[in-house]
Amino acid sequence: MKLTPISLIFMLAATLGFSASVFASPDLANGKVIDQKKCYACHAKKSGFGNGDMIYTRSDSKVTSLPKLKSMVAMCNTELRLDLFPEDEADVTAFLNKQFYKFKP
Ligand code: HEC
Repeated sequence: MKLTPISLIFMLAATLGFSASVFASPDLANGKVIDQKKCYACHAKKSGFGNGDMIYTRSDSKVTSLPKLKSMVAMCNTELRLDLFPEDEADVTAFLNKQFYKFKP
C-alpha cells in the first residue's frame, strides 16, 4: 500500500480512536441503564424488598470489596446469561460502586 498523507491521517485517527476507547474511564450512565434494564427487576423480586436497589445495600451483603463486587457482577452476568460485554460489565460495576458500595479502587 502506498502511504499518502491522507491514508496516514486515517491510520492515526484509527489508532487514537482505538486507544481512547481502551483507556476510557467507565461509562457510568451506561452502567445505570444496564442496571435498570437487566438487573433491577430480578433483584427487586429475588431480594423480596420489591426494590432492585436494596440488594446492593442490604446489611448481609456478601460484597465487601471491589474485587468481590466485580466477581458478583460477573457471576450474575455469566450464570444468568445476560450476555454483557466486558466493557458493559465494567460500566455497571463502576456505577454500582459509585452509587452504592463506594469501595476505594
Ligand atoms: C435472574 C435474576 C438476576 C438478574 C437478572 C441479576 N441478578 Fe444479581 N443477584 C441475583 C440474586 C438472586 C442475588 C443474590 C445472590 C446471593 O444472595 O447469593 C444477586 C446478587 C447480586 C449482587 C450482590 C448484592 C450484594 O451486595 O449482596 C450484585 C453486585 C449483583 N447481583 C449484580 C448484578 C448485575 C450487575 C446484574 C445485571 C447485569 C444482575 N446482578 C442481574 C439475581 C439476579
